[in-house]
Amino acid sequence: MKILGSGHYVPHTKVTNDDLAKIVDTNDEWISSRTGIRSRHISDGEEASDLAANAAMEAIKDSGLNATDIDMILLATLTPDRMLPNCACTVQKKIGAVNATCFDINAACSGFLFALNTANAYLTAGMYKNILVIGTETLSKVTDWSDRSTCVLFGDGAGAVVVTADDSKSFYAVTGADGVKGPVLAGASTPLRNMLIKGNDDENLADSYFMKMDGQEVFKFAVTKVPECIGQVLEKADVAVEDIDLFVLHQANIRIISSVSKRLGVDPEKFPVNLHKYGNTSAASIPILFDELRKSGALDNAHKIVLSGFGGGLTWGASYIEL
Ligand code: UT7
Repeated sequence: MKILGSGHYVPHTKVTNDDLAKIVDTNDEWISSRTGIRSRHISDGEEASDLAANAAMEAIKDSGLNATDIDMILLATLTPDRMLPNCACTVQKKIGAVNATCFDINAACSGFLFALNTANAYLTAGMYKNILVIGTETLSKVTDWSDRSTCVLFGDGAGAVVVTADDSKSFYAVTGADGVKGPVLAGASTPLRNMLIKGNDDENLADSYFMKMDGQEVFKFAVTKVPECIGQVLEKADVAVEDIDLFVLHQANIRIISSVSKRLGVDPEKFPVNLHKYGNTSAASIPILFDELRKSGALDNAHKIVLSGFGGGLTWGASYIEL
């Protein structure tokens, strides 16, 4: 699989740590020292499909293809505009990719990696030729803006890549999930409501709708699982860790990224970061960072890349790609 083009888009409204200190009991020092985050972009009206369509159009332009050349759209999100139609179909309509088969994938913050694996499987099977893979989130709508332990962490945004089949570029992936630990990071519930079920009042509904997280459990899980699955994917690819040019990790917390670099014994310089600008954008974080690196020239001399992420589910994954 070869990446032909990439793009990203974030909503124009930037919310700083100081802005958040006006609505919850927090401060810039706590947020930046515990997470590395300094600001995030929050949608003031654009839906996940709008963010995705902007990122997608940029990726298609960058790839040199036309929207009509795209024969599949795989869209990773945990915050679609609605359940029906799926967000990928809404993006298809917005960008005019009339020849594409479209569906959504939800693996929370690991979603983009899972979607990329799915694209690779379809390309390897020869079913499709040019696949648009998108990660998009409007996490702001499932964020409890009165909960300081979560509202300072997340942001909205979208990233996209266009991929095509290419035998000369290796691709290996490792993924996993542990549903038993699901409750440590959960939300956006749409409880069963029908004429047989009593007691689903709106208050309970609102409570289960917002994201809730046991931050320390997620932290412990991330700092063990991420290096573990990176080790596994490198073994599969038969590539030494020192031969990797860059590690493009899910942008959740600078302390998690530093810990992964230490555990792997790799120079932190090989772990680019943009979470200070965008916070944690879940499924969008890896493709946003990838696109920024590509556009800045940071990938010009990079050939072997590892992508890795973790998130709700719990889910995790690492992919080895060649540029
Ligand atoms: O994509 C996956 C998404 N999730 C993650 O990656 C999250 C992984 N976990 C983390 O990043 C960290 O656990 C957090 C950043 C969420 C929290 O950092 P921590 O060092 O684990 O802090 P803590 O939860 O242990 O809280 C320490 C203190 C508590 O006060 P007390 O009990 O010591 O008095 C919290 O109430 O910090 C307090 N606190 C805050 N203070 C100021 C929690 N949130 C805030 C806040 N501002 N925003």
